[in-house]
Amino acid sequence: MSNRSHEKLTLRCLESSDQPTFDDAIRQFTGSGFSFAFGYTPGDDFAKYLRTLDDQRRGINLLPGQVPSLFLLGVVGDTVVGRLSLRLELTEALRNIGGHIGFGVCPKHREKGYAKAMLRESLHLARQFGLPRVLLTCDSTNAASQRTILACGGRLENMVLDATTGAEKERYWIDL
Ligand SMILES: CC(C)(COP(=O)(O)OP(=O)(O)OC[C@H]1O[C@@H](n2cnc3c(N)ncnc32)[C@H](O)[C@@H]1OP(=O)(O)O)[C@@H](O)C(=O)NCCC(=O)NCCS
Repeated sequence: MSNRSHEKLTLRCLESSDQPTFDDAIRQFTGSGFSFAFGYTPGDDFAKYLRTLDDQRRGINLLPGQVPSLFLLGVVGDTVVGRLSLRLELTEALRNIGGHIGFGVCPKHREKGYAKAMLRESLHLARQFGLPRVLLTCDSTNAASQRTILACGGRLENMVLDATTGAEKERYWIDL
C-alpha cells in the first residue's frame, strides 16, 4: 500500500465553480454508507448550499445540535479527491461518537496518501482555531481509517458502542 505524502493536496472551502466535480465526488459514494456531503444532493440549489456552509463556518443559523464547523475539500489540481469536516466544538453526541474531524477519500483516489495528507492539513487548521487536541472516531472494523488516525498521532482512548448503528467505535485523541 502506498505511503507517499502529497505536497500538492490542498484543503479548502467549497467554491461555486466546484459543483460538477463535487457532484461527481458525491456520486462516487452512493450506496457506500458514507455521506460525502451533508444536506446536499446533486440537483439541489448549490448556491444555497454554499451559503449554508458559510453560515456553519461562522456559527450562525445553526440547526439544533450543530456546532460551528468547516466543510473542506481535498483538492489536487482541479480534482476533488476527498473531503474533511472539522467541527470546532463538541456536543455530548460528538464527544461520544462523532468527534471533531471526519473525512472520506473518493474510491478512485484511495491508497495514495490523501487521507493522511488531508488529516495533517486539518490539524494545522484546528491549532489555528485554538483547539488543544482533537477527537476522531472510527468503526473498529475500518482499518484504513484507524491507520490514517494512528499515522497522524492518534492515541486510542476507548471503544464505545454506537447505539444508532450498533457499530463499535474507537475514540482517538490527537494532541495539537
Ligand atoms: C478511510 C479512507 C479515508 C482512507 O483514505 P486513503 O486516501 O485511501 O488513505 P491513505 O492512502 O492516506 O492511507 C492511510 C492509511 O490507511 C492504510 N489503508 C488505506 N487503505 C486501506 C485498506 N483498504 N485497508 C487497510 N489499510 C488501508 C494505508 O496503508 C495507510 O496506512 P499506513 O500509513 O500505516 O501505511 C478511505 O478508505 C475512505 O474514504 N473510506 C470511506 C469513508 C471512511 O471510512 N471515512 C473514515 C471515517 S472516520
